[in-house]
Amino acid sequence: PDHVARFTLDPAFTVGEVNPRLFGSFVEHLGRCVYTGVFEPGHPSADEAGLRTDVLDLVRELGVTAIRYPGGNFVSGYRWEDSVGPVEDRPRRLDLAWRSTETNRFGLSEFMAFLKKVGPEAEPMMAVNLGTRGVAEALELQEYANHPGGTALSDLRVAHGDKEPFGIRLWCLGNEMDGPWQTGHKTAEEYGRLAAETARAMRQMDPGLELVACGSSSQAMPTFAAWEAKVLEETYDLVDHISLHAYYEEKDGDRDSFLASAVDMESFIENVVATCDHIGARLKSKKKINLSFDEWNVWYQSRFEAEAAENPLDWPEAPRLLEDSYSVTDAVVFGSLLIALLRHADRVTVACLAQLVNVIAPIMTEPGGPAWRQTTFHPFAQAARHGRGEVLDVRVDSPTYRTAVHGDVPLLQATAVRDPRTGAVTVFAVNRSQDRPLPLRVALGGMDLGEIVEHTVLSDADPDARNTLDEPDRVTPHPGEGAVLAGSALSVTLEPLSWTMIRLA
Ligand code: AHR
Repeated sequence: PDHVARFTLDPAFTVGEVNPRLFGSFVEHLGRCVYTGVFEPGHPSADEAGLRTDVLDLVRELGVTAIRYPGGNFVSGYRWEDSVGPVEDRPRRLDLAWRSTETNRFGLSEFMAFLKKVGPEAEPMMAVNLGTRGVAEALELQEYANHPGGTALSDLRVAHGDKEPFGIRLWCLGNEMDGPWQTGHKTAEEYGRLAAETARAMRQMDPGLELVACGSSSQAMPTFAAWEAKVLEETYDLVDHISLHAYYEEKDGDRDSFLASAVDMESFIENVVATCDHIGARLKSKKKINLSFDEWNVWYQSRFEAEAAENPLDWPEAPRLLEDSYSVTDAVVFGSLLIALLRHADRVTVACLAQLVNVIAPIMTEPGGPAWRQTTFHPFAQAARHGRGEVLDVRVDSPTYRTAVHGDVPLLQATAVRDPRTGAVTVFAVNRSQDRPLPLRVALGGMDLGEIVEHTVLSDADPDARNTLDEPDRVTPHPGEGAVLAGSALSVTLEPLSWTMIRLA
């Protein structure tokens, strides 16, 4: 009855520790993610390797960790050997996934050099092609990338100028193999067997690898759950993670349901955890399979269909594809998805924001022109920076609202992360109400917190406001007002349709 949301923070009740890989992202050979995105020789900001330093600066500011590469649907036709060696000898190929021409001017070595420049937390998450290829090619790529030397393929890498092995630990066994759109799409039985054979062989070369088996492309796939069960039966002892992918968009003007997208994400996570643990129990395994939510975002797929229809016979180089522009509303939903991932940090140990630049991305560029931050950049950068440590078990007591798709949904979506070294706590909160402020009371049971260090809010009088080439900083977080820390409680009023971060020390 009273319009107030509440929760209690208690260091004795935790979900688990945040794996830095929760703040991963994704670079696919798709549209302008690579070409004129991260890589644009001749751009005024390009370094000697052709990497855009304006983009590199923003990638560092965003704070991404594991970066998945080279796809995505692209990987199902990927010929890794085309992407290495002298650039002038690299072939141009048809990319069936995105009906584009792949020039291979940017390849594995360039990607590894890019990661190095991003910084010490940047880690490759390399996918192998299990669409048109199989065990042998995965092994060849692994040998080329990771073996120190003294064999044909490792010596080839050295001859190509990369003396040190790349040391790639984290590998995806294909991509979205449950999707009928996928080149080389497979049944769960076919994929499960191939993934198991590939995993076994890759581990023969290096038992220390971490492997991700493909789960479902979304919770709405008709094969969802049965797919995970079958794939895990085949691969349980051979892999470490199963993947989840989810994209959300506002459909038919139903903003209330769109704002509740994290409800779907949380149920997806909980359903996959249940399947993993069920199969583990049936196999009498002591091992737990973790979740790699390696594609997530807001994506207006409806726009993509329109783009694709425009050019049915073209095979362009780096076309403008999937260049969604994100509003304040999108950023609030995006923030709630980040919160959903953090709330399951005990089992979601890898997550990749799809994607990094230009393609459904937090960073946009113009060829020859500037780079800028989309609205979604801000919640991600704040969470990647301050969402480190232990996630506290936040049980929200919140007024609800009615949605057509998800039923009654709490107006508040929230989590809190505690730095175990300092005891500092960061609260992330979303108010889903489109028109009403939401008073929030947080009881700080037994925690020695005396100061609000930072309080920022992403919201706007215009919920459709966005950042563009002409107005790149139209939407940025602003300082929050009125938060009070007194008597072992935090009181604050969350603005309508907002993402809020409050740091307490
Ligand atoms: O991220 C865009 C595409 O979405 C990826 O290539 C694919 O895996 C998914 O369907």
